[in-house]
Amino acid sequence: MMTQQPSGIAVVTGASSGIGKSYARQLAAAGYDLLLVARDIQRLQVLAAELQEAAAVRVEVLQADLTSRADSALVEQRLRSDERIVMLVNNAGMSVSGSFVEADFDQVESMIQLNIVALTRLARAAAEGFVQRGKGTLINIASVLALMPENFGTTYNATKAYVLSLSESLAHELGEQGVRVQAVLPGLTRTEIFDRAGGDVNALPAQMVMEVDDMVGAALRGLALGERVTVPSLPDAGQLNSFVDARRAMAPNLSLSTPAARYLS
Ligand SMILES: NC(=O)c1ccc[n+]([C@@H]2O[C@H](COP(=O)([O-])OP(=O)(O)OC[C@H]3O[C@@H](n4cnc5c(N)ncnc54)[C@H](OP(=O)(O)O)[C@@H]3O)[C@@H](O)[C@H]2O)c1
Repeated sequence: MMTQQPSGIAVVTGASSGIGKSYARQLAAAGYDLLLVARDIQRLQVLAAELQEAAAVRVEVLQADLTSRADSALVEQRLRSDERIVMLVNNAGMSVSGSFVEADFDQVESMIQLNIVALTRLARAAAEGFVQRGKGTLINIASVLALMPENFGTTYNATKAYVLSLSESLAHELGEQGVRVQAVLPGLTRTEIFDRAGGDVNALPAQMVMEVDDMVGAALRGLALGERVTVPSLPDAGQLNSFVDARRAMAPNLSLSTPAARYLS
């Protein structure tokens, strides 16, 4: 999976289940020590014990509700102060079911807090140390829904579009300072996120649902290939490149001193 033996700590948020748990397992197998973050401390402890035995790496756990500013600050403090941290997998996230006008708005606000505010605060804390040391890896888990605003949920998709945009900006800004930034855009992946939002992953078309270890394995391969944006199921990476090229081609005309001809009557 990875070519050189890593040394240092990878911090994985949302490591108690799903994608975060798979990152924890695969990063431990690759030789990273781990700091696992989530609310469910018991699940984190069980996983930590399993990984310490199976992979002979050091695994710490930290209980945090990342929608709480105080809990987020604990993780931020650790990211800022611990020089052994070489990677942050900014994965913890949630979705909310229901249309824009029907969804429980307190839930939507928690989602924005978790998917956007906490993710950004943690990215900032990690980036400070990475820039100082001239190296580090930031992985942000977005979603293919960042590219599909007309599908599924409104505000969830918007949070993931934010994560994609932030990641691409950071890849640009921090790349020159030795920091790798990758946005991972999973499609449907078999995890608990569907149950938590009141759905059922088994009701989805099977050919659209990826097993979580396959998704994370592909994302780590994309990281090793130097990708800034990884879409694990996309067969033709050229399609993503064309999409980015089309956006960039507009750039010279996106801010001009005069309105376009069609707006001049
Ligand atoms: N599964 C998919 O189809 C899919 C597709 C695209 C993107 N994603 C993204 O992938 C990421 C991981 O989701 P998943 O599919 O693996 O779902 P999951 O199985 O529900 O895992 C979510 C993780 O986030 C943690 N978490 C939730 N709320 C938290 C909070 N307030 N504070 C701290 N941790 C919290 C959960 O742990 P605790 O409950 O212990 O706190 C859990 O470890 C999310 O960002 C999600 O949006 C998933």
